[in-house]
Amino acid sequence: VFENVQQAPEDPILGVTVAYNKDPSPSKLNLGVGAYRTEEGKPLVLDVVKRAEQQLVAEKSRNKEYQAITGNQQFNKLSARLILGPDSPAIAKNCVATVQALSGTGALRIGAEFLAAHYAKPQIFLPMPTWGNHNKIFPLGGVSQKPYRYYDPKTRGLDYEGMLEDLKAAPDGAVILLHACAHNPTGVDPTEEQWEGIRKVIRSKNQLPFFDCAYQGFASGSLDKDAYAVRSFVADGGECLISQSFAKNMGLYGERVGALNIVCRSAPVASRVDSQLKLVIRPMYSSPPVHGAAIAAAILEDGNLFKNWTVELKGMADRIISMRHQLYDALQERGTPGDWDHVLKQIGMFTFTGLNKSQVEFMTREYHIYMTSDGRISMAGLSSRTVPHLADAMHAAVVG
Ligand code: LMR
Repeated sequence: VFENVQQAPEDPILGVTVAYNKDPSPSKLNLGVGAYRTEEGKPLVLDVVKRAEQQLVAEKSRNKEYQAITGNQQFNKLSARLILGPDSPAIAKNCVATVQALSGTGALRIGAEFLAAHYAKPQIFLPMPTWGNHNKIFPLGGVSQKPYRYYDPKTRGLDYEGMLEDLKAAPDGAVILLHACAHNPTGVDPTEEQWEGIRKVIRSKNQLPFFDCAYQGFASGSLDKDAYAVRSFVADGGECLISQSFAKNMGLYGERVGALNIVCRSAPVASRVDSQLKLVIRPMYSSPPVHGAAIAAAILEDGNLFKNWTVELKGMADRIISMRHQLYDALQERGTPGDWDHVLKQIGMFTFTGLNKSQVEFMTREYHIYMTSDGRISMAGLSSRTVPHLADAMHAAVVG
């Protein structure tokens, strides 16, 4: 009965790792998926995660019972506080419905399904370009999508005017997807002043912001600084949705830890929204898993673990920033044609190099360097040892 099933293409991001794993070359380098590696090129389990796990194992009363449909309530509370801030009036007034989710993807999908069922205008505007999975999550969740201008290939920066024009032209009430910080894949973020302009347009048109926050603390090294955009929108009292992921900032990738927050205008509304989110979650996967959220909650609630987490987080962010400088210097040394300032200016895990598809293919074929076909490289996958290899490959690809 499945004779006619066609072979599906690999995922544009996770498929890069599949191709990398098949390559026998000893000099191969995976700069595809956004996953942090140490200077030795190894995955990192944060020390605070190990300590939180030890605490959990030592707690004799822990069991493997089902969680509530909306997950670990302590985790939900602390997760909302992390993104909205400890003094958030929205939290104090119980205006926020928060549910544990299967990392950022799961949170976005729950949000999409909720909007499809309960929002009068389930159409979302996505930045161009955006994380590839956004384009699939929203239509499959029942929300149609349209692009808005974001990245300007000429300046390799933000097309601020184009973005504002497209938001103004979008219908009143449309949902607007915003990357809270460290835009993926471009690494280009609005300045605080530009966020203010964006917020004014969105609020004047009663549009609904949906923040995807996958890199809090990872962009600048500061949890508060990276929450700036979200907090400025919540401070004006309007509604928004926020998906959170703890994959990168706690290194909990495969544990799938995240949350969806829906900021409402009043406590009774938030409570009704929460009741409807349960109806979205229960038929999808019943309730979320226990372990990862318990680790995150332990880190967020224990002052000492929290402090140590911020130090480790800053360490990861700083190592990525240092990779930017090393790559930039290596390209300068080689006299690689072109302006590479964007390697330094872009923010977060990725550099959107500007290399085209055939240059990327060349680098994979000749240098065994793996990256997404749009020219995005994960700076977190680089090390001092591998920078020269990457710079050689980029130089050769550009010189042609
Ligand atoms: C990425 O963009 O590489 C990460 O967000 C991982 C993923 O799931 O795509």
